[in-house]
Amino acid sequence: MTTPTIELKPSSHPLSDAERKAILANPGFGRHFTDHMVTIKWTEGRGWHDAQLTPYAPLSIDPANMTLHYAQEIFEGLKAYRRPDGSVATFRPDANARRFQSSARRLAMPELPVETFIEACDVLVQQDNAWVPEHGGEASLYLRPFMIATEVGLGVKPANEYLFLVIASPAGAYFPGGVKPVSVWLSENYVRAVPGGMGFAKTGGNYAASLLAQAEAAAKGCDQVVWLDAVEHKWVEEMGGMNLYFVYGNKIVTPELNGSLLAGVTRDTLLTLAEDLGYESVEGRISTEQWRRDTENGTLTEVFACGTAAVITPVGTVKCESGEWTQAGGEPGELTMKLRGALLDIQRGITPDKHGWMHEL
Ligand code: COI
Repeated sequence: MTTPTIELKPSSHPLSDAERKAILANPGFGRHFTDHMVTIKWTEGRGWHDAQLTPYAPLSIDPANMTLHYAQEIFEGLKAYRRPDGSVATFRPDANARRFQSSARRLAMPELPVETFIEACDVLVQQDNAWVPEHGGEASLYLRPFMIATEVGLGVKPANEYLFLVIASPAGAYFPGGVKPVSVWLSENYVRAVPGGMGFAKTGGNYAASLLAQAEAAAKGCDQVVWLDAVEHKWVEEMGGMNLYFVYGNKIVTPELNGSLLAGVTRDTLLTLAEDLGYESVEGRISTEQWRRDTENGTLTEVFACGTAAVITPVGTVKCESGEWTQAGGEPGELTMKLRGALLDIQRGITPDKHGWMHEL
């Protein structure tokens, strides 16, 4: 695998300071994009080439582009944070780069070298540094690396050319309500992933498959859908696009990686961070029956979801066809909020990063 040098072609018309500041005052999530993007091409027989940082602009796509028809697409999400001294660092970009390679293998796409992935993110953040929100709040710059097939044709086969891109978007809170417990619907009619499928890959198809179930959850009065396993419909897998954690007093338990779950970077981080804070963290299996029983008998004290975009989000009310129950009295749990604070403090450069998770630019 070769690593091409990224050629810089900065925009001659970036947004003005005033326009950018108005956006940063209330960025929302995924609504505004910075002035630049990185693109790198891959062609069979040639490998990675034509790496460029250019002004952010629409792509021109042939109607017979293979991605539009057969969804050979993968993506990542990671964040850059402003630190107290004004410098900027990204969180565990190497972990995202390795997961991107794993997703690429599953989708029969070429693997981007880890160092190229990190360099592409670095170059974009350096160029668009002014878009990284100020230190102090929870806002950050969300980076969206992704890859699409660019071959034109309707034959069903791996494409012979691809485009890797990185775009960036200033991000405030993912859930508009702030840190407020979300209500969840246990999906018995739809599954997200099947054994041997592509549940572990970060690919658009998994998110497309989630939309109808998410709409069902909304129709049941819930904020989010919770996925169960595809075989027995009883083992808890994920919540929407996030991993789940169950708090049993001093122990936190997260569904084990069984091939149909996404190996979340935040999920992985919390396995270590919880131990640092003196808690036990384990991967295991939790059934819906156990979820309800242990909540009702008081041993399961809190449940939370985690992911890059929304960090850590408490789960409040849980609903399913057979009834409903509530975690932690519908309030954000104590350990949930402690882990959330500890993680954000490392990401924002407030507490020391003893695991080398922050990648300083
Ligand atoms: C993330 O938390 O990074 C996600 O994958 C959610 C995203 C699809 C908005």
